[in-house]
Amino acid sequence: MQYATITGWGKCVPPATLSNDDLATFMETSDEWIKPRTGISRRHISHVATSEMASVAAKHALAAAGIDGSELDMIILATASPDTLIPNIASTVQANIGAHCAAFDINAACSGFLYGMGLATAQIKSGQCKKVLVVGAERLSFYIDWSRRETAVLFGDGAGAVVLEASDVAGGVLGYEMSNDPAGREILKASFGTSMDRYDAESLHFYIQFDGKEIFKRAIHGMSSLSSKVLEKCGLDKDDVDLVIPHQANERIIDTLVHKMKIPAEKAFVNIEEYGNTSAATIPIAICDALAKGVIQPGQHILSCAFGAGLTSAALLVKWGDRVTPLATSDAALPPCDETGLQLIEKAVKFFGPQR
Ligand SMILES: CC(C)(COP(=O)(O)OP(=O)(O)OC[C@H]1O[C@@H](n2cnc3c(N)ncnc32)[C@H](O)[C@@H]1OP(=O)(O)O)[C@@H](O)C(=O)NCCC(=O)NCCS
Repeated sequence: MQYATITGWGKCVPPATLSNDDLATFMETSDEWIKPRTGISRRHISHVATSEMASVAAKHALAAAGIDGSELDMIILATASPDTLIPNIASTVQANIGAHCAAFDINAACSGFLYGMGLATAQIKSGQCKKVLVVGAERLSFYIDWSRRETAVLFGDGAGAVVLEASDVAGGVLGYEMSNDPAGREILKASFGTSMDRYDAESLHFYIQFDGKEIFKRAIHGMSSLSSKVLEKCGLDKDDVDLVIPHQANERIIDTLVHKMKIPAEKAFVNIEEYGNTSAATIPIAICDALAKGVIQPGQHILSCAFGAGLTSAALLVKWGDRVTPLATSDAALPPCDETGLQLIEKAVKFFGPQR
């Protein structure tokens, strides 16, 4: 029997940050409003394309696994904010890391990384692939309408990646679930795509829109029911969970989720304060941060769950292996950025105009 084990991990977060106080310089908001309602203090704004962040994260993940890009059998890149729709940006990452394999993007919004992990696990368990790179990368600042404070304060840019490898040792990804509720399609969206009228400038006015309270409710329901389903499928109980690494959309959503599942709050890993919601990238970035902080220990049962536009949801249970340190490190980095977060968004802020 083949198991799918995480052997490498890496992240890439752009250097420029935008704090809650920075936002308050041009919109009616405050750290006092944002922090208690979301847990967010700052977010990172990218000066490069999504694929550049994805490539740097991928190089770190490959180094941590001690493998070369040429050894990969597949690259799955989860994103809702690719630099190009055609071709996919998994191919850009592929070129940057010297891989010769299948490479494609998937869009399951914030659940994209876990969807990718599920697909990669199936490829490994079926014997089709031995080494798969799964990346979550987003440049959500592209979609932000800075005149709409209810959405603008929540999102950020970044990328994370893991290498999944076939192993004979029992463990790795024990189970996963993916679902989608199309009845919720309209409550979270960014109307970017071929439905836009390319001859109408107004139509270029796309931005993320959502019904926050409705998403909040559905997120808790989706993540808790799929998490319970995965635990049951694996013959485990909530008390067997050592660590929860959930999608980071709102700290209050995470608190409510673990409370509902009767899992102690201290078992939930939360790093939203630093990044905001980076959609498909939140979970792989959180895995990297949890490892760097020594939170992930050998043999732990780690539950991950996510929800996003679609409305997608997913849950994944991993039994971590023996190794919690990288086999090697990479010096891959983004080109330097000499602008602040505020400077990077200045043009967009002017474009969208005063607060609505
Ligand atoms: C968006 C969210 C933080 C709002 O929290 P909330 O508790 O529902 O907000 P409240 O009802 O307490 O506050 C709404 C009020 O704050 C105001 N407000 C909204 N954004 C604000 C901001 N950035 N700064 C200050 N005030 C703001 C609104 O105008 C509203 O004012 P009103 O009551 O006078 O009409 C929360 O609903 C959420 O996180 N939802 C999930 C969203 C999400 O994660 N989407 C992506 C999914 S992957």
